[in-house]
Amino acid sequence: MKSRFITMASHEFRTPLAIISSSSGILQNFSDRLSEERKQEHLQTVQNTIKHITQLLDDVLMINRAEAQKVEFNPAPLNIIPFCRQLKEEIETTSSKHKIDFSWNLDGQIADTSVIVQIDKKLLQQILTNILTNAIKYSPDHNLINFSLTIENEKLIFTISDSGIGIPEADQMNLFESFHRGSNVGTISGTGLGLAIVKKCLDLHKGEITFNSQLGQGTRFIVSIPCVRC
Ligand SMILES: Nc1ncnc2c1ncn2[C@@H]1O[C@H](COP(=O)(O)OP(=O)(O)O)[C@@H](O)[C@H]1O
Ligand SMILES: [Mg+2]
Repeated sequence: MKSRFITMASHEFRTPLAIISSSSGILQNFSDRLSEERKQEHLQTVQNTIKHITQLLDDVLMINRAEAQKVEFNPAPLNIIPFCRQLKEEIETTSSKHKIDFSWNLDGQIADTSVIVQIDKKLLQQILTNILTNAIKYSPDHNLINFSLTIENEKLIFTISDSGIGIPEADQMNLFESFHRGSNVGTISGTGLGLAIVKKCLDLHKGEITFNSQLGQGTRFIVSIPCVRC
């Protein structure tokens, strides 16, 4: 791994570790003076922060593997529509307050046939999960996320759009860089590594990603992946 990346990554671990240290220190030293409610708040902070560190660790390991060309590419036949539908349902269960509308269009026709494509399922899952969870995370509660799949000319084209906070123009050109987060994320937690991972996965497999976004209006990501229909 490049040393600049290691420096940046280690820096990202310091803040959450300091938070855990502070909250646990307060519990240790002042527990007799804290209300039950305050104690629970500190314990919750510790839990949330541990979750954040775990995500950071997973993301750092994933980027590292991708950079070292150690992410395997194992295309295999996949029935793409049930796969997307299942992914949509799995992600919806992680957020009780958002719904994802999934639709598809095959070579100009809307059909409910099974479409088997040759694709790496794990990679596709990594790519779509990152973009869909962002759409949820950066949208107000009860907003609908649109997720669509078009298959044309041996390409899968996924479009994910939300009507959330949008991405400030100044952040747009650095969006796929590790640790870059928009200036408008406020207290929404994140590692700034999701889209860097998406980009790496797509680069390795000749896919492309584009997006357009309006601050305060919403964001649309379009992912296109070459694939062969079985
Ligand atoms: N759907 C979206 N709506 C608004 N901002 C987004 C969206 N997706 C990504 N972003 C912006 O891109 C940044 C990088 O995304 P990502 O790499 O997934 O990191 P994070 O861990 O912050 O979600 C985010 O911090 C956010 O500013
Ligand atoms: Mg993210």
